[in-house]
Amino acid sequence: MLYEKKDIILHVEDLSIAYGDKVIIQNVSMMEHDVVREGKVQGQTIAVLGRSGRGKSTLFRGITGLVAAKSGRVIIPDYSKAVTDGLQPAKLVAEGDVGFVDQKYTLFRHKTILDALLFSMRNTNLSGKEKLEKAMSYLVEWGLENVKHQYPNELSGGQRQRVAIIEQLLSSGHYLVLDEPFSGLDVGNIKNAKASFDLIECAHELNTIIFSTHDIELAVELADSIYIVGYPKKPEGGLDTIGTIVAHFDLKKMGIAWRDGFDADHLELTNEIKRVMLES
Ligand SMILES: Nc1ncnc2c1ncn2[C@@H]1O[C@H](COP(=O)(O)OP(=O)(O)OP(=O)(O)O)[C@@H](O)[C@H]1O
Ligand SMILES: [Mg+2]
Repeated sequence: MLYEKKDIILHVEDLSIAYGDKVIIQNVSMMEHDVVREGKVQGQTIAVLGRSGRGKSTLFRGITGLVAAKSGRVIIPDYSKAVTDGLQPAKLVAEGDVGFVDQKYTLFRHKTILDALLFSMRNTNLSGKEKLEKAMSYLVEWGLENVKHQYPNELSGGQRQRVAIIEQLLSSGHYLVLDEPFSGLDVGNIKNAKASFDLIECAHELNTIIFSTHDIELAVELADSIYIVGYPKKPEGGLDTIGTIVAHFDLKKMGIAWRDGFDADHLELTNEIKRVMLES
């Protein structure tokens, strides 16, 4: 499948993050480009995998500017500035630049589901009627219509998570970072979430979804780029206890991105990823 790499959309440069004195991840570097395919609108889908506690959520807090870097930096394009000399000006990521659905999916406690969704569209230029129609179509599609006047504490975990995802779908710019968006979803909800990924991907060239999951097959099916966060091997044997990127798979380069469904090549990569994860 032919494609071209254009502007850099995410550059994580030698990032390390600590909580207090405890370094959680270090030497993390990631580089992603706007991928262009002829005759298509092609966004980017990036998956982050790794065993529990290796630092995926911590990395996401760094990428979204929610925690400060101990060293290194995260650079994203600054779309508020005009292109000069063919280059999109870049900026250091700051909190609020990137839509983020936390693994703990916090919702506004004092707003009903419908009100929360309407509120999330406050910075768009849609009319009140358009906002309502859009919110309602998501609620219906994601099986939440009957809880639209309820408050978050009156919802099941999976329902709350879907609301959090929809909130970000409605409000975020080109970036969407989702920490374990599929956990707690049933088979129908997963189908909806996958369909939403597809919609986001083909809605704008620059749209970029970064998500983590423990479902390796799903990541291989959906992503065009996969990073594994793990503990690197120590020279003297054994594993270090600070997370880093231990492997990166570019499914575009491997020729297995953007296929319909899951096939034998995807299975092979799944097994390779499992091996990497078990050793890190
Ligand atoms: N606020 C915090 N303060 C101190 N340590 C933390 C904090 N949050 C996470 N940690 C520690 O950082 C490490 C990485 O946690 P993180 O949540 O990033 O892992 P993860 O890869 O997302 O795991 P999971 O797959 O279980 O979600 C863990 O050892 C955890 O105990
Ligand atoms: Mg996590």
